Amino acid sequence: MEDTVPPVIDPRRVPIHVACVMDGNGRWANERNLVRTEGHAAGEQALVDSVDAALELGVKWLTVYAFSTENWRRPVSEVRYLMNFNEQLLLRRRDELNDKGVRIKFVGRRDWRIPRRLLKRIEESEELTATNDTLTLNIAFNYGSRAEIVDAVKVLNAEGIEPTEAALSARMYDPEMPDVDLWIRTSGEYRISNFLLWQSAYAEFVFVDAFWPDFGREQMFAAVAEFQRRNRRFGGL
Ligand code: IPE
Ligand code: IPE
Ligand code: MG
Repeated sequence: MEDTVPPVIDPRRVPIHVACVMDGNGRWANERNLVRTEGHAAGEQALVDSVDAALELGVKWLTVYAFSTENWRRPVSEVRYLMNFNEQLLLRRRDELNDKGVRIKFVGRRDWRIPRRLLKRIEESEELTATNDTLTLNIAFNYGSRAEIVDAVKVLNAEGIEPTEAALSARMYDPEMPDVDLWIRTSGEYRISNFLLWQSAYAEFVFVDAFWPDFGREQMFAAVAEFQRRNRRFGGL
């Protein structure tokens, strides 16, 4: 890994938690007369490069949106491809991620719709990397923010606990996950698409025109530089 964090980035003000909507794979493929699934395949390198950039920057949490609760609406063939693709990606990449000190985690509903083979790879990858602490790579899979909030409220109810912000935060899928500092979406869409609503209450949003397969270290550095130009006030002055 090269050490090429641009000097405009202040190492003391790097976001702790970066969240990424990896969008535009299908359009990237369409533009090249390829089938949509080849766009997903091309997105793998962008993910690896983003992880490397996060490591170089010293970001502690990177959450990437890989499959939403709404993505089940896609044709069965694409859904099947994505399930298999993510399983294979874990097999291909978990050892090198482990060597880089990355802790792999999954956030989302682990329900019956996720193939058992993929669930198994998820659990193995989490176990393999559980003690790493350089960067947590959180893969949002079968994730929907509204479902997460509803699930948290159900837990609160079952426990008979008075709802407070802290109580609800502690019952999100990953209670350890810090609030999002920098929230990025590729592909020129200006939508949240049900990604980390609760955790992004005070996130800085950066929208990038590039499709996800064209995202990489440079674009990640540019997004962090943009983040550092913002003035976060959290309601104060
Ligand atoms: C993002 O790319 C990946 C997933 C949602 C799994 P898309 O598949 O949404 O690509 P576009 O937005 O149709 O171009
Ligand atoms: C959001 O992208 C989900 C992921 C990137 C996994 P979508 O492509 O599904 O979102 P919409 O449909 O454009 O809102
Ligand atoms: Mg999309």
